[in-house]
Amino acid sequence: MNLKTLAVRPDALVVTWLDDTTTTFPTLWLRDNCLSGLHPETHERLLDLLEIEESPVLTAADLTDDTAVLTYADGHISQMPATLLDQHRPGARAPDAADIPAAHWRADHGADNIPRHVAAPILADDKALQAWMSDLASFGLTIVDQLADSTDAGVSVAERVGFLRRTNFGTTFEVINKPDPNNLAYTSVALPLHTDLPNQEVPPGYQFLHCLANEATGGGSIFADGFMMAEDLRNEDPEAFDLLCNVAIPFRFHDGDADIRVHRPVITLGARGNVIEIRYNAHLAGIFDMSADQMPAYYRAYRAYMAKTRDPKYRLTLKLQGGEMVVFDNRRVLHGRDAFDPSTGFRHLHGCYVDRGEFMSRLRMLDGPAA
Ligand code: OGA
Ligand code: ZN
Repeated sequence: MNLKTLAVRPDALVVTWLDDTTTTFPTLWLRDNCLSGLHPETHERLLDLLEIEESPVLTAADLTDDTAVLTYADGHISQMPATLLDQHRPGARAPDAADIPAAHWRADHGADNIPRHVAAPILADDKALQAWMSDLASFGLTIVDQLADSTDAGVSVAERVGFLRRTNFGTTFEVINKPDPNNLAYTSVALPLHTDLPNQEVPPGYQFLHCLANEATGGGSIFADGFMMAEDLRNEDPEAFDLLCNVAIPFRFHDGDADIRVHRPVITLGARGNVIEIRYNAHLAGIFDMSADQMPAYYRAYRAYMAKTRDPKYRLTLKLQGGEMVVFDNRRVLHGRDAFDPSTGFRHLHGCYVDRGEFMSRLRMLDGPAA
């Protein structure tokens, strides 16, 4: 147990830890999180916060075994496990097995060093699943190889992570040169680096592209770490970075069945100021509608990020082979491909998505049962 002593203040409990640091827990927080307020089976909160006075008065606190026994002036007694206090210190995030920091990369990382994992162990063994998913969370891009030559093989790996995300392109999609395409991916033209479906309110999280055949001339794959390019822009051109964070631009996909649009910024920051999302797709960006006064500065910023997506300094390139699947965080890693010549051979990728929430839930469950 990490907890050394308890001190009572009327408005707070002050805990001294074994390393002699202290943490203050306000009494309203303590009452709000008293275990007696939870449903015994679902562990959801039943307690009505408005039924508690705004400033409960703490009168005593005793440490017995691994529990802080707290007594209040109104007679209520709480048994607070020491681990609960330890893991939920005000001002700090609770430990989270899914909170794996992004390790940013540029071209000098080398395409040969993209983390590679074999499919069969991922399917059969939770430790192999966890090792692959941890690499994916950190690097944002992995290759799963030795997949069976069937369109189900990649989907089975994706389903080890969680539910597939269904979109207007279906639950899975075939990336083949098709007649009447509704998406540039379904042609043989080059696809510049992009993130998929930035026009969605929440773009798909992890993308799985299982290569079944790549026999045409061309059709090489390109990847770049969108977070790295954003961080470099932040250092080199803070004004451009701020505009990309703060100005929402339109994104739109439309065909005969759907017209899906949002306004969002290219770069989204998280609570800690770190980049948590990139939306960048030159072919789905809508018609810019910021004021004319803002346009020159915005275009300058947007072109600065676009120029990074063209800079070889950020690119990893490879040609996928049948039996390989790239899996990447579509809200971080930009992907693209070279044009290919369909008259020279068949090219077929089978794709699907699993959202970040499902992915993070699986990582937590692999770390141990929910507390
Ligand atoms: C896609 C895509 C890449 C490729 O389907 O969204 O970008 O290599 N495909 O065909
Ligand atoms: Zn794409």
